[in-house]
Amino acid sequence: MTVVELIERKRDGGRLSAAEWRELMARYAAGEVPDYQLSALAMAVFFRGMDDDEIVALTAAMLESGKRLALDHLTVPRVDKHSTGGVGDKVSIPLAPMVAACGVAVPMMSGRGLGHTGGTLDKLESIPGFNTRLSLDVAARQVEHLGCALIGQTAEIAPADRRLYALRDATATVEAIPLIAASIMSKKLAEGLTGLVLDVKSGAGAFIPTLERALTLAKTMIALGQRHGCETVTLITDMDQPLGVACGNAIEVLESIEVLKGGGPEDLRAVTFALGEEMLLVAKVEATRAAARARLERALGSGAALAKFQEIVVAQGGPAGLVDAPERYLASAPQRAAFVAPRSGVVQRVEPRPIGRAITALGGGRTRVEDSIDPAVGFLVHVRPGDTVRAGEPLVTILARDAAAVEEARTALGRAIVIGEAVPPRRALVSHRVTARGVEELAAGGAS
Ligand code: URA
Repeated sequence: MTVVELIERKRDGGRLSAAEWRELMARYAAGEVPDYQLSALAMAVFFRGMDDDEIVALTAAMLESGKRLALDHLTVPRVDKHSTGGVGDKVSIPLAPMVAACGVAVPMMSGRGLGHTGGTLDKLESIPGFNTRLSLDVAARQVEHLGCALIGQTAEIAPADRRLYALRDATATVEAIPLIAASIMSKKLAEGLTGLVLDVKSGAGAFIPTLERALTLAKTMIALGQRHGCETVTLITDMDQPLGVACGNAIEVLESIEVLKGGGPEDLRAVTFALGEEMLLVAKVEATRAAARARLERALGSGAALAKFQEIVVAQGGPAGLVDAPERYLASAPQRAAFVAPRSGVVQRVEPRPIGRAITALGGGRTRVEDSIDPAVGFLVHVRPGDTVRAGEPLVTILARDAAAVEEARTALGRAIVIGEAVPPRRALVSHRVTARGVEELAAGGAS
């Protein structure tokens, strides 16, 4: 069977067998199939979809194209969390040490920011010296000794996905649910996990904005996890507004440290705890949500989670005194200016996408993979939809390099923050819980 024949079959609505997917991806990873043929196939999948067996086969093929974290010998459960990302989503930074401090191994593999969304790796790299590029062997040893490593996808993990993802990004084929599910899960399954918690964002700032498609993605990834013996649970969480107050890089690390000290914005704490509870439940170190919550509270209250974060920072090359004096180590922007309410009224929308793009314009995000990041810039967003504001009241603190950047940011914020008269409906912060058994609509949550 030639690659052209496989493309033709997919184009015409047919399916490829597991053996065909395996051989195709092995040959692609080895550089024997050109990008233009995989681009055509990805576009055929975009329009024709894939059946469940094909998604399983593609995931396994991409997983097997690389190595795995060697953690099977550990006696403790191994659980990670993956978020589909958004603006202000720094949850991984406080969550990983919190869960590790509860006796669960957390080999956390995160990504970089692209487009309007921020990336955990970029945020962590605003800590001077912090090295996210650990080899799999070094990361495995750190997880063994400290219970946690905060790393990026190395060249050793799912190389076929790495190549295909870059190709999809350049050919408008990222948004195909079977391809997204196989891409995310091939990397997560390479971490040798016993359990996985997914945070699928829904709302205007989410990679997949509609709830219906977010649920389809969640169910597809859960089925893949279960097939590989990795219990997988998903929370659908809100990304219709930025999460927390800080949106940028260094300031998101600062806000994460606040959470680890027992403070931080309420919405950020709520999502962090909700995901942490699920991680302790899939790890089976606690049997009820209340017990999981209490354990996480103890890890925070005792200072164990904060100490764990500091240990991880030092192990990965960062400064020993970071959590005691974060401002001493984290870059701060030379310009701080207020964006004030242009009129009195009720905040209708705080649009995450334009806010994310404005952070990129300030230098805090990237439009191309090779762009560098300015860790110091960003926004402190002090308002939420539903807040009553008065004309002239400061709504956002702008952190920028120079006065021209401040003015540009003000223009963007003027479009992103909509003030009107009506009180907007409240959106649930954590709206659904999806497991292999089905979808539960959650009454709790409710920050707006
Ligand atoms: N993140 C991934 O890792 N892969 C995708 O396809 C989309 C988001």
